[in-house]
Amino acid sequence: MNGRKKVAVLISGRGSNMMSLIAAAMAPDYPAEIALVLSNKPDAGGLQKAEDLGIPTAVVDHRDYKGDREAFERAVNEILVENGIEIVALAGFLRLLTPYLVNEWRDRMINIHPALLPSFKGLHTHERALDEGVKLHGATVHFVSPGMDDGPIIAQGAVPVLDDDTPDALAARVLAVEHQIYPRALELVVTGKAKVKGHRVATSVDTSESAANTLIFP
Ligand code: GRF
Repeated sequence: MNGRKKVAVLISGRGSNMMSLIAAAMAPDYPAEIALVLSNKPDAGGLQKAEDLGIPTAVVDHRDYKGDREAFERAVNEILVENGIEIVALAGFLRLLTPYLVNEWRDRMINIHPALLPSFKGLHTHERALDEGVKLHGATVHFVSPGMDDGPIIAQGAVPVLDDDTPDALAARVLAVEHQIYPRALELVVTGKAKVKGHRVATSVDTSESAANTLIFP
């Protein structure tokens, strides 16, 4: 559709965040279209969901590259370029990226992480949040930098940690927030409202109302 930025979503699994982006992009006034879903795993559940909705899909199986991460990424990049992709959204894409792909897509690649960064980078974030006894936990959408789960933060959403929480219960509460903040953050990026300034992201939106009423920011 005219004027809408072409976004690729990269997944490795069930793709619930991918689905939240696809659902948002179904609105006629959403400024992005999900033009491609790419997985490094041929059996990722999200691939079928995207196909069922008529969205083009691609698989680049990292196992075919025998540990050569950059060769894998060059194959991924070729497909992104062939498809005219302008923005890349990582959504549960379980590959550590090399500087090659990060630099190709600098300021045009975003990721969602299930914690309030810079706390709890890496895996098992919900277990670790419970172990540390934090009272607020959440999710972060950020631009991708070479470090793991690193880069300028675009949006965060927080949830309370309850006394009787289990990792699964907390994960479910955080996932609901992920599904809210990712489409919003993508919209800020594709409209140019989220701009990288050093380590920070300036968002030229009026946040007074949302800041007053919700723990999702901006
Ligand atoms: C999400 O929790 C996301 O934050 C993390 O991996 C998980 C992917 O879940 N990066 P889904 O495939 O989007 O359902």
